[in-house]
Amino acid sequence: MEDYALSFWIYMAVMSVFVGGAVKKILASHISSMPTLVAWLGAIVLVERLCALCMPAVLALGIFCAVCWFYTAWAAPAPALPVEGKAVFITGCDSGFGNATVKHLDAMGFQVFATVLDLEGEGARHLKSVCSPRVSLLQVDITQPQQIQQALLDTKAKLGMKGLWGLVNNAGLCVNFGDAELSLMSNYRGCMEVNFFGTVMVTKTFLPLLRQSKGRIITISSPSGEQPFPCLASYGASKAALNLFINTLRHELEPWGLKFSTILPSAFRTGQCRNTDYWEKQHKHLIQNLSPSLLEEYGEEYILETKDLFQNHAKTASEDLSPVVNTIVEALLSPQPSVRYYTGAGVRLMYFICSYFPVSISDKFLEKLFVKKKVMPRALRKQNGLGTLLSHSLNNNNNNNNINNNNNISKIE
Ligand SMILES: *[C@@H]1O[C@H](CO)[C@@H](O)[C@H](O)[C@H]1NC(C)=O
Repeated sequence: MEDYALSFWIYMAVMSVFVGGAVKKILASHISSMPTLVAWLGAIVLVERLCALCMPAVLALGIFCAVCWFYTAWAAPAPALPVEGKAVFITGCDSGFGNATVKHLDAMGFQVFATVLDLEGEGARHLKSVCSPRVSLLQVDITQPQQIQQALLDTKAKLGMKGLWGLVNNAGLCVNFGDAELSLMSNYRGCMEVNFFGTVMVTKTFLPLLRQSKGRIITISSPSGEQPFPCLASYGASKAALNLFINTLRHELEPWGLKFSTILPSAFRTGQCRNTDYWEKQHKHLIQNLSPSLLEEYGEEYILETKDLFQNHAKTASEDLSPVVNTIVEALLSPQPSVRYYTGAGVRLMYFICSYFPVSISDKFLEKLFVKKKVMPRALRKQNGLGTLLSHSLNNNNNNNNINNNNNISKIE
């Protein structure tokens, strides 16, 4: 009897976590998460029954795992669609995922239209030298509507009667990163201009072609568009806007037979990651353009640490881009592509923690995952140094006075 009571409470605890998770999922659900939800609820009921029958914990757990395994195995991928005759348009192929994806799709036999910022650049030259003549390189800056229009005309001319099967919205950039308060407006606008407005324009321009062929739209987004990663507010906000746009299109265009997938990759070494010159320049630009009062309150050493941490983080990012490339292929060829793909080490765990744990824990987790700041803003360090006898608010006031004395009155740009 004693044993029964103990295992009962253990099961109750475990189940409340799972049921709580399920409820949260229901609240934030869309159609695609229904199968997972059903499996989840089924598993809960099963565990509950076992618990009622007073089974040994190990056995119950074993059966629970078997159910999960069965579900995963049962959802095994269906045979892929044929590549033959399919054309794909992909943006941002100067480097990173674009560079890798074009080569892979070309090798598989797709007809590829790849946009690059610079037709004479290293990336374009590399693609020209290694790809088959099925690859057409197009010069497009996705912030320039007339260049996108020209790319549409060129693509149509090459396709002839054939439709376009896929659009891969890959082009994107992170102008700079840093605390949201310290990020310049040019940083927010720069991210929006490319990641949001640029991608919206490309998608709108190519939709008529894609509707003809009941094709696929695949968008490379970022978990930072959904979770509040420190120092990624400007990039994340632009991806968040993009996610909502794509998600809305997804159900509006379902009657047309179009399928949308969004890929949420973890940290991969792409873009300007390795370009130390770029980050040095951005850092200098930030320091020069920050208001003196902000610079004083946060301190240059704080901003410098953020830059160094980011560069170190970039070094640990995965160099093997194939998980993302393979996911793009799956989204292009699976008979039932997922609405969302989590790709790369740790993304699923991150989403699990951010979805099912309290904010206090998930915030800490995100801080540990990305830039682990050790340096406190200068004003907060001074404040702590004032001693423990003073109350917090008094402390604050003293400190603000100090700063204002040093800098006169803060200027707001
Ligand atoms: C493109 O990918 C290849 C590896 O497949 C790499 O050697 C090359 O440097 C990449 N180009 C750019 C510009 O990233």
